[in-house]
Amino acid sequence: MEKAVVLYTQKGCFACHGSNYEGNQGPILAGLDAENIKQAVRAGSEDGVMPPFDEEAISDADLDLLATFLSSLTLEDTGVELSSAIVEHLEKVWDALQAGDKAGMETHLKKAQEAAAPPAPPWMNARHNEPF
Ligand code: HEC
Repeated sequence: MEKAVVLYTQKGCFACHGSNYEGNQGPILAGLDAENIKQAVRAGSEDGVMPPFDEEAISDADLDLLATFLSSLTLEDTGVELSSAIVEHLEKVWDALQAGDKAGMETHLKKAQEAAAPPAPPWMNARHNEPF
């Protein structure tokens, strides 16, 4: 088994981020940047739910490995499926983003959230606002 997968289990990430990285108490882990992942793990979450992991909890080398692996994950790897309504609005969010249309982005992000609710899927809790 890949060492990163062992680390993901051993360090307890799976408990909050799901055994398929699909999210649970913590957000889905797919489509994230490796540097951001490392920062998030070292810092812990602002809401205090995720503890900070220092170098004793996970070494730099192991965190590198884990972050590289997690950053390679796609939505497909998580088994999370989005309804067509959500996908449609997220595509519009993406178009608005490309066009630099901030108001349009917010409108469609809100619609995507509404289409997803209830219940809001875990990936909507992500701190970053980047659509997939
Ligand atoms: C006790 C629960 C818990 C554990 C254990 C935990 N996390 Fe988290 N994690 C969270 C929560 C909750 C958030 C979201 C906080 C927020 O929205 O500000 C989060 C946020 C993150 C983020 C930022 C996600 C984003 O979209 O910005 C990353 C990356 C992350 N966790 C990775 C990990 C890794 C890797 C591990 C294991 C080393 C881990 N987490 C262990 C609960 C946990």
